[in-house]
Amino acid sequence: MPSSETTPSPVIFDRNFLHGFATSAVQIEGGSKAGGKGPSVWDRYCDKGQIFDGSTCREARSSFVLWERDVELLVALGATAYRFSISWPRIMPTGSRHDPINEAGIEYYSNLIDRLLFHGIEPIVTIFHWDTPEALDASYGSWRNHTEMVPDFTAYARILFERFGDRVSNWITINEPIAVNFFANMGLYKNWDAKADVWKSVYTMIRCHAEVSHLYKTVFQAVQKGRIGITLSADWVEPIDSSDQAKEMAQRKLDFFFGVTLMTVDFGDYPESVKQAVGDRLPALSSDDKAKLKNSCDYFCLNSYSASWALKGPAKDHQPGPFDDMFGNTHDTHHHPLTGEPIGNPGQPFFLFDTPWGFRKMLRYVQDRYLRPCRIPLFITENGFAVKGEAELDETEARRGEDAERVAYFKGYLGELAAAVQEDDLRVCGYMAWTLMDNWEWKMGWTCRYGVSYVDPETQQRVPKASARWIQQFFRSSVAR
Ligand code: NOJ
Repeated sequence: MPSSETTPSPVIFDRNFLHGFATSAVQIEGGSKAGGKGPSVWDRYCDKGQIFDGSTCREARSSFVLWERDVELLVALGATAYRFSISWPRIMPTGSRHDPINEAGIEYYSNLIDRLLFHGIEPIVTIFHWDTPEALDASYGSWRNHTEMVPDFTAYARILFERFGDRVSNWITINEPIAVNFFANMGLYKNWDAKADVWKSVYTMIRCHAEVSHLYKTVFQAVQKGRIGITLSADWVEPIDSSDQAKEMAQRKLDFFFGVTLMTVDFGDYPESVKQAVGDRLPALSSDDKAKLKNSCDYFCLNSYSASWALKGPAKDHQPGPFDDMFGNTHDTHHHPLTGEPIGNPGQPFFLFDTPWGFRKMLRYVQDRYLRPCRIPLFITENGFAVKGEAELDETEARRGEDAERVAYFKGYLGELAAAVQEDDLRVCGYMAWTLMDNWEWKMGWTCRYGVSYVDPETQQRVPKASARWIQQFFRSSVAR
């Protein structure tokens, strides 16, 4: 019998399939005060010491200066696409449509895009990956104020389409419009009424997506020929047992996590269960909004990491959260429901399991409920794993990049993706692993690592880990040429 190393894997994905790695501006760029950039809310949280390990994103991975190394790394890893985000305050230092734009910011992204294209790497651009301009937050409450935020965000997106749309064919309006609002509960947002303001913010984000997609489709798409969508977090929720109650609880969570965004951008309105649970705290969509939302996506972009289990009633360690009303009496747990083991890093605000079966169930669920009716493809815009204890390794050990657990994770998830294409006829147009290199993880600072490459803290040299090589091999043999 030939070993699995010598057995060639079959071709699974067609030649237009995009594969590569994802990052976001705050997490890698640094240069937070360089090149004319204005402050974002994350600069404020860092300056006020609100990050778990007291770190700042001021220099992050220095990609503002070292972006050419990032491109070299992508080339070395055989990527055909790179998903990165544009920093709103680097393009518009105050974020406001009434103030001048920053040409140095335009030039930075323009150079990056040109270099990627030179190497045959397709840029996948996220317009908003959480770095709200601080001036908008200070002046009118940013996402809580849709009447000001929608025109500002639309003006920002228009600049991107005008300046980069001749070279960028894949746009994502907003990254994870639900997940970002969980930060409201971590003491980060100034003066937020956690229960009411998070819903206003979700509403504003959905409206921003609708307007920007409408702008792109009516003004730019015919000439630029690109596509546009929104990215949401798509983690499977499994009932804890076979009771009807557990199933109903799991469904309620799926309605919330998938429904609020997918249902809305697909069919033009929120799911009934969400409307009932939240009432008028979630502002109603107007008929104009609904019309713009329907078919506002050319692809569904999903970030998927882990499954969680819906429990009956609050878990022992449940911390009240901003969306609790929606969950009813359903909660996740910080302990693995099957082994009872505590999981995650101390204080880690999310749950991370290596659950490839959950990924497959999620793919089937989305395919049956959302993709088939509207006939658009799926794009996995993030998938990855923070190996427990990796951030605590000494530098010599970490530099070896022997991340066997991450390799096992990708084997499982990419195996399921391949099986879904072959057995379930899933239409998927791309896959981006999270993340190109170890980077700054928001509220968790440097305490957990998702990178497929290690970064030397002194020299900022990027060193691929075993997982990066494994991914490269996987796509080398499974994508048609
Ligand atoms: C999703 C977010 O988009 C990304 O910024 C974050 O680093 C990963 N999840 C891991 O938590």
